[in-house]
Amino acid sequence: MDIDGKKVALEIKEEIRQGIKAHKLVPGLAFVLIGEDPPSQTYVRMKEKACHEVGIFSKKIELPSNVSEKELLTLLSSLNEDPKYHGILVQMPLPKHLDTLKILTAIDPAKDVDGFHPLNIGKMVVGDPTGFLPCTPFGIIKLLEAYKIKTEGKEALVLGRSLIVGRPIAHLLSQKAPFGNATVTLAHSHSKDLKALCKQADILVAAMGNPLSITADMVKPGAVVIDVGITRKETKIVGDVDYENVSKVASYITPVPGGVGPMTIAMLLYNTYLSAKSHSEKLLYRE
Ligand code: GUN
Repeated sequence: MDIDGKKVALEIKEEIRQGIKAHKLVPGLAFVLIGEDPPSQTYVRMKEKACHEVGIFSKKIELPSNVSEKELLTLLSSLNEDPKYHGILVQMPLPKHLDTLKILTAIDPAKDVDGFHPLNIGKMVVGDPTGFLPCTPFGIIKLLEAYKIKTEGKEALVLGRSLIVGRPIAHLLSQKAPFGNATVTLAHSHSKDLKALCKQADILVAAMGNPLSITADMVKPGAVVIDVGITRKETKIVGDVDYENVSKVASYITPVPGGVGPMTIAMLLYNTYLSAKSHSEKLLYRE
């Protein structure tokens, strides 16, 4: 059965739109796009469109690929101070001369709607709900919730150890919480016998960025398969999973496109909405 991320994302977006109206909020999100990476340009365009749909004000700031660290830090500091913006998103990946961790750490954690700041990662790990969860892992948990897919006691395999997806989803699936409590294995490019690891998994999250590399013979019959890969192949967008054949073996599978992708955007909007709401509540409290 397909997990329809587009449909779940639409429902979340409607909830955000209503919430923004009900609380009379004007949430603002600033996008910082550096260089001319075509996929990054596409993602930012899609995120801007989604902001517009739910009533979030957004601004895109484009910088040349040779922007200096100092210039970027100055921009982030002014966005941190600007009350119009409740969220700041620096699109990844950054050009090689920029230190990603230093840049992410320069964003005010209270505006870090991507959930990449070390403080928010720390809050996620210790289970402090006042932080922001990273959007793709958050979206995956929401999909499991929407389809009432039990994770407790299940063998979960996460393929890929990125800061953005692999490591945080491995954490969330293992934490003591609803849609956690799984026995999680985090595999990566140095892992041995990937096929044997995959074969044991009740829940398989593919986030390596290797198009069509998870084939039907690697998947346990009845497994839940979450495909985070997005690669352009000629005119088509494909995931890390060979959907055509794996869908015949899996109990649930996210298609690409239309699975995890729309959820990443929905959760970004949700984090921005939460940020604006908590900001307005703090202001009311001080009055
Ligand atoms: N690059 C790929 N995914 C993401 C994301 O969720 N946020 C940002 N900022 N950059 C990305």
